[in-house]
Amino acid sequence: MNNIKTAIIGAGFMGPAHTEALRRIGINVAGILGVDEAESNKAAASLGIPKAYKSWEAVLKDTDIQVVHITTPNKLHYRMAKEALNAGKHVLCEKPLAMNSKESGELVELAKKSGLAAGVNYNMRFYPLCVEAKNMVAAGQLGDIYSIVGSYVQDWLLFPTDYNWRVLAEEGGATRAIADIGTHWLDMVQNITGLKVVAVCADLKIVHPIRKRPKGEVETFSGKVQQIQATEDVKITTEDCGTVLLRFNNGAKGNLWVSQITAGRKNCLRFEISGSKKALYWNSETPNEIWVGAREKANDLLLKDPGLLSEAGRSVASYPGGHNEGYPDSFKQCFKKFYTYIATGDFNAPKPFATFEDGHHEILLCEAIHKSHLEGKWVEVIQG
Ligand SMILES: NC(=O)c1ccc[n+]([C@@H]2O[C@H](COP(=O)([O-])OP(=O)(O)OC[C@H]3O[C@@H](n4cnc5c(N)ncnc54)[C@H](O)[C@@H]3O)[C@@H](O)[C@H]2O)c1
Repeated sequence: MNNIKTAIIGAGFMGPAHTEALRRIGINVAGILGVDEAESNKAAASLGIPKAYKSWEAVLKDTDIQVVHITTPNKLHYRMAKEALNAGKHVLCEKPLAMNSKESGELVELAKKSGLAAGVNYNMRFYPLCVEAKNMVAAGQLGDIYSIVGSYVQDWLLFPTDYNWRVLAEEGGATRAIADIGTHWLDMVQNITGLKVVAVCADLKIVHPIRKRPKGEVETFSGKVQQIQATEDVKITTEDCGTVLLRFNNGAKGNLWVSQITAGRKNCLRFEISGSKKALYWNSETPNEIWVGAREKANDLLLKDPGLLSEAGRSVASYPGGHNEGYPDSFKQCFKKFYTYIATGDFNAPKPFATFEDGHHEILLCEAIHKSHLEGKWVEVIQG
């Protein structure tokens, strides 16, 4: 695994996060590409990466590189993933996989034909207690699943002066809060339960139909600290918040609340899964504990401790009990699964990470949610 060489595409929030996580599992980050030469050079220097690429074409031609991580804005994912696979490189793409299901469907087919590893970075799956939750559901400890509810809530786009490329449909896609954070939640609960969302009824809201765009670029989450002088008004068509009723393929009911405008909630994903025997509740802001609800005995609060986890949970917990693991660790664990899969070389084996099929399903979900909101009615989700 340690002889695999990787290139990182994008040098904003995610580029350095991927670099850091890869190095923690011994992967050689050999090169980085930013939006232009200056950004490539700056990122390579600050992260100590040997090669600063001059262009995307230079990455594709670099025969040293076996894996490409795509951490650019959403509108570039499709083209970059397609060209990287065609150039014979394994691809780990940030979510959402593409801008629409036509693009993501094509990528699924291309990935299948390529015989290469193709993953989407739904990293939140890899918190140890989320893997443990999946294991508990699979072992029947919750019984039949009756309902799945929760939320993903942030505050970084609360004010009309908060701006990032994501707020524009042409950069991020037709839905925003749903695609940007809602798909993490949808991926999480479907991965844990093994169920699929089959129908949705959505009600979304644009709180700020006009936002103030700074003249010049703004990095993700930097709006809270960056002093912005000149701005221009820009029309917004993507939602800031919303709720979605969900039906799952086993008949379970659910709901999801997403918001990027809830003061004080920094990055808070919560789920509660109720079954015929037990229930589970988890919150990403306190990721090292999971509540296990019972009816006939006292409830439990399981703290992350490899000694108390199943083999599955233990496989993504690197530190002893009491030593917290968090957001950056979820990238490390996700990449460990992805690169072990590549190193093993058996591409017919089950894939222990979110695949392009999973990424495509998330986009079909986004489209169904958007359609439901626009038409004010339940919409069935196309199962890709
Ligand atoms: N998995 C997660 O938890 C998570 C968290 C945040 C963002 N994301 C995803 O990661 C992606 C990037 O988001 P971000 O927050 O890092 O954005 P960002 O704006 O902070 O960074 C994007 C980077 O891409 C660069 N870029 C733009 N066009 C480029 C091009 N043509 N070639 C090379 N580089 C280019 C930009 O200069 C910038 O460095 C998005 O798809 C987003 O949805 C995932």
